[in-house]
Amino acid sequence: MHKREIKIEFLEYESSENLPDVEKDLLKQAKNAASKAYAPYSHFHVGSAVLLKNGKIFLGNNQENAAYPSGLCAERVALFSASARYPGVDILAIAITATSKETSINEPITPCGACRQVMIEYENMAKGNIKIIMSGERGKVLVSETVKNLIPLSFDGNHLIKK
Ligand code: THU
Repeated sequence: MHKREIKIEFLEYESSENLPDVEKDLLKQAKNAASKAYAPYSHFHVGSAVLLKNGKIFLGNNQENAAYPSGLCAERVALFSASARYPGVDILAIAITATSKETSINEPITPCGACRQVMIEYENMAKGNIKIIMSGERGKVLVSETVKNLIPLSFDGNHLIKK
């Protein structure tokens, strides 16, 4: 038996004001997308913005449904829409934020497990890593240089290779 350890690393900015310009702008666009979310059930409005290697930016926000599981998170709306329009173009970064009239979002929004799984698929396809910028309504912002920090020991296509 061997004991193994996996370390994760991320940057913590005091505020979005301290982010580099490209990341600040992406977060601003995610914030704008959050204001257009369709979230009549949770009232938790999430926004995301995906930056592609070709410079295009795709926005997403959560789309809820009266049949709850039929809805989709903001991150996957943006990621799928980017990949649908520009299949195979590397994703460089995704910014995520949220706003709500019912709760105070003082901590950064971190993606759910299903969104992390989708992100790692695109990172594995890409030549480089995908940067994840995570923010709440205010306060500190977390930045991870790679999806691997968020989903260690992930399942991927290699598990499906036939004998
Ligand atoms: N949600 C997202 O869109 N992204 C996340 O990272 C966390 C959760 C959505 C799903 C649902 O519409 C609402 O937020 C409450 O869970």
